[in-house]
Formats: sequence, structure tokens, C-alpha cells
Amino acid sequence: MHHHLNTIAVTLAAIGLAGAQNSSWNHNLFTSSPPVYPSPETAGTGWEAALAQAEAFLANLTLEEKAGMVTGCSGPCVGNIAPIERLGFDGLCLQDGPLAIRQATYASVFPAGLTTAASWDKGLMYTRGLYMGQEFKGKGANVALGPVVGPLGRNARGGRNWEGFSPDPFLTGIAVEQTIWGMQSTGLQACVKHYIGNEQETQRNPSITKNGTTIEAVSSNIDDRTMHELYSWPFANAVRSGVASVMCSYNRVNGSYSCENSKTLNGILKEEFGFQGYVMSDWGGTHSGVPSINAGLDMDMPGTIGFFVSDNSYFGSNITTAVNNGSLSEARLDDMIKRIMTPYFHLKQNTDYPSIDPSGAIGGFFSVEPTTVQFPLGTVANVDVRANHATLIRELGSAGTVLLKNVNNALPLKAPKNIAVLGNDAGDLINGEYFDSSPYSQNAFGFEYGTLPVGGGSGTGRMSYLVDPLTAIKARAAQDGSLVQWILNNTLLSTPSGLSSLAPSPPDVCLVFLKTWAQEGLDRSTLLADWNSTAVVESVTSVCNNTIVVTHSGGLNVMPWANNPNVTAILAAHLPGTESGNSLVDILYGDVNPSGRLPYTIAKTQEDYSFADITNSTALATTTNPNAWQSDFEEGLLIDYRHFDYYNQSVQYEFGFGLSYSTFDISSLSVSNVYGGSNITSTPPPAKIIPGGNPTLWDVLYRATVTVSNTGDIAGATVPQLYLSLPQIPSEDPTPLHVLRGFEKVSLQPGQSTVVNFDLTRRDLSYWSVFQQEWIIAAGEIGVSVGLSSRDFKATSSFRVL
Ligand code: NOJ
Repeated sequence: MHHHLNTIAVTLAAIGLAGAQNSSWNHNLFTSSPPVYPSPETAGTGWEAALAQAEAFLANLTLEEKAGMVTGCSGPCVGNIAPIERLGFDGLCLQDGPLAIRQATYASVFPAGLTTAASWDKGLMYTRGLYMGQEFKGKGANVALGPVVGPLGRNARGGRNWEGFSPDPFLTGIAVEQTIWGMQSTGLQACVKHYIGNEQETQRNPSITKNGTTIEAVSSNIDDRTMHELYSWPFANAVRSGVASVMCSYNRVNGSYSCENSKTLNGILKEEFGFQGYVMSDWGGTHSGVPSINAGLDMDMPGTIGFFVSDNSYFGSNITTAVNNGSLSEARLDDMIKRIMTPYFHLKQNTDYPSIDPSGAIGGFFSVEPTTVQFPLGTVANVDVRANHATLIRELGSAGTVLLKNVNNALPLKAPKNIAVLGNDAGDLINGEYFDSSPYSQNAFGFEYGTLPVGGGSGTGRMSYLVDPLTAIKARAAQDGSLVQWILNNTLLSTPSGLSSLAPSPPDVCLVFLKTWAQEGLDRSTLLADWNSTAVVESVTSVCNNTIVVTHSGGLNVMPWANNPNVTAILAAHLPGTESGNSLVDILYGDVNPSGRLPYTIAKTQEDYSFADITNSTALATTTNPNAWQSDFEEGLLIDYRHFDYYNQSVQYEFGFGLSYSTFDISSLSVSNVYGGSNITSTPPPAKIIPGGNPTLWDVLYRATVTVSNTGDIAGATVPQLYLSLPQIPSEDPTPLHVLRGFEKVSLQPGQSTVVNFDLTRRDLSYWSVFQQEWIIAAGEIGVSVGLSSRDFKATSSFRVL
């Protein structure tokens, strides 16, 4: 903690005492990031036996081998650390990504993080992580490059929001810890990414002008309170759940590149959160050697300078030189290796770990150091790791589908005689099953024909099969002898005569499938669904007064047709993975009662999100100023529902909202102090830092209890949600009016009731004080609201801690 004393003056100035609201935002306070040195050494906290093994391993390494242990090399995986045969170390194989082992054959493609968040189901989050862990391990990967909690989703148009979970840090925090627990229970290492402030794809990396000037990557300028209460919050959960590694991001944070930012790496991550594992760079995200290392970076990936550049590394032999000439301490290099090898031994990757499936050997990225590395590959190619995971994929696909509107009993379908399936998102793929190759990323709207099961880029997955909606609907409709007619051409559908081939017409029900492409490297240009979606819905509803709209989207959509009376139902199906059609049919026909809830807000118009937009402009795109790309997070804590609530703005569908085929109620809210001690201090009692930070931040101080009832006549699940109204802090930025601090998915038979408890930890009740550099429970009343969405409170109460 002594670093804080040394740097506190700098810290207070640089991280901003100015308010985060527009009126008081002072950009100049965010142009530098305070220094925090030296880099904290791992104590192997929680991993003590493994640390001893890592130390014994380290003792045998030459300096050259040490440099190799922290520098990516060419090899069979997306990222590779060279084997050391002499020591029986097979090297490390790092593979993408957050929803599948990206490029592997005979592997599952799971619902995206976004879909998983929309399920609000902790058990399914865990099982998805567990199955992904089994598949990565089965293919011989040591490290999965996932899950994603950055982007958090500040910008509604962010191109990678779907890889992560939700713009709410609490929901994302729960999702990430469940995922990591599941993944690492198999012996796989998880790598939570991208740390931190990676909220847009535009200018995520530096660029070079025609004249050769380097224009630096966008700087996410974030005040210290917002850093703690929003963006780093889920990373603390990840550290607490024992995550092996953290990937630093491409962007700059308060002026310094994330992979050489000593405040965020040494300060917040390693010191405050007590992270004991290793920080690896995003691919080509390292911009220096010794400075990055001293700022807390432990591993350079893929071991090249720049992205896709085969060149020297800032690490590699530069490390050997720097240790030999005294500019880098060997103790710091040793700490890097201990951080890398402790989770490896803790997860027992040294014993009986599967070899790398040669079919997954994509060659990764070429780098020169070391030049020729032989990785031990397995003898059997194309190992099928899918097991029975399709069952979970189908279930989670349904669970992450949100029923937003349902009038005139449109859903569930009751054996309609004449069904129309419309739109270019309804049918099968025609360009192949792998969304990280050119047919799928030619333009901002992706490919024209075929349903959208996942997004594009390194967060995608190679599908071994795909159940498209049209095929699944045909199969189900056959059971009722229904007629199924389909038109998949959106250009045709968006003209008034586009539906003239239907007969008989109008059909009993028109199912319109819309999609929204999103991919790494590109932010979305619109929040509308793609491919003339608005015109398509207009022409379908002009013919069909029972139109059900289904969206498959890599993020949120605004829905200008939501109040159209001929739109009788809306399902936001997100990105469901390979069982897409089955997951949907289960809901359409009522075999599964919808229980998904929005993990974000659907506002009325795109402009409603302009308070936190992507930083971009023609001037920026042609700038010659290396430091021009500045993204000021002026809205502070007020993103998504926190913004709409604070400004009392009406929205189309609020955060946490979702319908069921049944109805539910909540009653009998009570809140009690379960801490025992009557004197709860405003600051956390000091304690030895463990992964996750001061353990007293996780003490359960209060417990809220409600009764949840199924008041309808069919079985189903609902999601009671607890929101706190924490006190406003005098002369501080606004505290959001309500923040999510608890949720449970509850399955109930008709007429059945159950008691649900929400445990409230010290962190849940605190705000981050920039002045005290501590989590503080403020004096004043704390409001408690429990409801079925962020705007549908069924029971309220309040209590005072201080
Ligand atoms: C860059 C992406 O940002 C990261 O998420 C991914 O893991 C690496 N590329 C490797 O593909």
C-alpha cells in the first residue's frame, strides 16, 4: 500500500476530482495516468503449493529460457509459449475465444456472452463455462482467451459488446465468475479480457498516416470512481474467482497504453485486487519492453511488434539484454515466470494434460523468436469434443431469448395452419460455417443470406453444424400438418409487392427474422437491425396482422416498429449458437416458457444513446495529431439504465425486462443485518489482500428476502431483481438512482411460491471514494427495490447502515 502514499498527490490530480458530468468534466485531468511502482510480486495467495512448484521450475531456467517463457513464439495455436523439453514442459497453447474454441473442428459453438447474460441464469452460466473448459482442454489448449468483460458495453454500437455480457457491472461480474469457475474446474486456464476501457473498436490500435506519423490508439479517459464502480468491477470478480490470466487491451487509458499502464496493472489489478496470475498483452498491444514490464505486463503476445507483423519482439532477446545490462531486474522477470507457472501447476496442467489436436494447428502468428519451435502434437486429429453439449446450447439459446411483446395471445403458437417465414435471417448459411473469414466480414452488415448464430472475428467459432430457424420450424410445423411458406430475400420483402407470392394470404402468422452483424475491429454503424429491416417489417405488417418479429443480433437494437399494432410479438434471440432454430422453436411452440431478460436497455431511438457514443469523426479519421483520439467517458457512472433512470427518460423496453407465458408477483420484502456486529464501519476492516481484493469487501452485511409467486396457469421461470438506491455523495458525481445488486432465476409451478434471498456484500453497499482511495459505506438511507425489471418494482424497503 506504500505506493499509494507515494503517489497519492499525483493520483488525486490525475484521476480527477472533477465531476464526471458534462458540466464539470475537465479533460486535462485525464491526460495522464499516475505512476504505481514497483510491480507487486506474486505471493501465490491461494495457490501456495503451486507457487513452490513454480519456484522449483524457475530455479532450473537459463536467462534465455526465462525470456522465452514470457514471449510468444510461432506454433500451432493462436498464442504459443515454447516448450522446454529438458524440464518436461510442453509449452503453452493459447486459443480464442469467449464462446468456442474458435477455429477448432468438431467443437461446439455456444451461445454468446450476450445471450448468456440475457438468461440471468447462474447455473447455465456455470455449465457453459464447464463445457467450454472441457472442449478447450480436450483439444489440448492450456489457456482460453476468454471470457470478455471489456467492452462492458458503454457504447451501444460497440462491435464486440456481444462477446461480453452486459453493460451492468454486477450482472457481468456474476456471469464472469460463474464462467471462470466452470472453465477452470476442468484444469483449463481462463484469460479474462480486455483490461481495460476497450469500449470501442474504432482506432483501438495505432494507425500510420501517409507521411509515416503514428497516430496513437484511442485513449479511454475514465475517472477513478467510474473505473472502480463500472469498468474494473467485473475484473475484480474475475480475480476473485481465481482467473489465471488477464489480457490487457489495445486502447490507451488516461493517456497510457493499457499494456504499459502502471496504475491499472500494478495499482488496481495486482495491488488492489490482489491478482496473483499473469497479464498478457492483446495481440500486438505491447508498445515497449522494460517500461511495460515494470508497469505490470508479464507476457508479450504473440511475440511480435505490432499486429500480424513478423518482426522482433519488445520482449524476447531484448529481455536478455536488459537483464544483462541492468535495465531490468531479474527479480521482476522471475516474478513474471512465477505468475505464469503458478496457475499452470495449480490447475495440474503438468500432469496428463491432453496434447494439442493437430487439426487445430492453424499456425497462429509467425514470430522470429525463437525461430523453430517443435510443439508436441497429439497423434489423433479432429478429436470430437462436443459430447452432449448440444443439450445445454439448446437450453441456453432459449433461456437467453427475451420475449418483449406478446399481444392477442400471439405466442405460443397453437398449431397455425398457414405459417410464413420471412427475412434473410431465417434460413441456412450459404457462405460456409466459419465467421472469421472473408465471406463474412466484407462489409459492416456481414453476409446477406443465412441466419446469424454468432458474431465475427476472434470471438467467433467454427460451426460443425447449424440448426437454422426455417428448418426447425418446418420440422415442428409438420407435426401439425401446417403449411410453411417462406421468402428470404429482404430486397424483395421491402417492396409492397414482395409478399405477393404467398397463397393463401394472409398467413395465420408471419414470422419475420431480422439480424444485426457485429464483429471485432468494427463498430456498428446503426442500432437498427440490418438489411432494410424497417422496410421489411413495414411491408410484412401491411399484409399480415399477426406479425412476430425475431431478432438475431450482436448487440442491442432499437425497434421503430415495436408499437405497430400488427406486430403482435417480439423475441430478441441474441446470438444463440448452433442450436438456434431448436432454441427458438421451443419458445415459439411453448415447450419452453420464455424467461430471458434484457441485459441492456432498448431506448426509443438511436439518438437516445448519444450520451456515450463511439469516438469518431472525419477530422479524427484524417488527423495528423498523434494524440488526437480521445474518448472522454464524461457520463461517468451513468451508462445504460443508470442514464435513462437518472434523466427520467422513457424507454421502449427497460433493462431487466422480459415477458413470460405466465405471470409472477413478488411480496413480503424484508431486509436484515446478518453481519452480527452492530457497528458496521464505513470503511472495510483492513485485512490481508487476497484475490478479489480486501476480503472484507465480500462480507455479507445484509440479506433481503422476498416471496416470489407464479400467479399464472403455466409453469415457468422468472428473475426477481434487487436494486439498491445508494446515497448521493455531497460534491461528488451523481450516484445512479438504482443499481442492480442481486438476481436469481426461479422456476415455479402455477400457483407455487418460494422464498428468495439476496445477500448484500460490503462492496454492494459502498461507493469508491477518490479522496480516501477506498470503498466507503456512505451515511444515509439505502433504498431497496425488488421487482421484475429495473422499472417494475413490486416491493420496496430501506435501511441505514450508518
Ligand atoms: C485480438 C483480439 O482483440 C483478442 O481478443 C484475441 O484473443 C486476439 N486477437 C487473438 O486472436
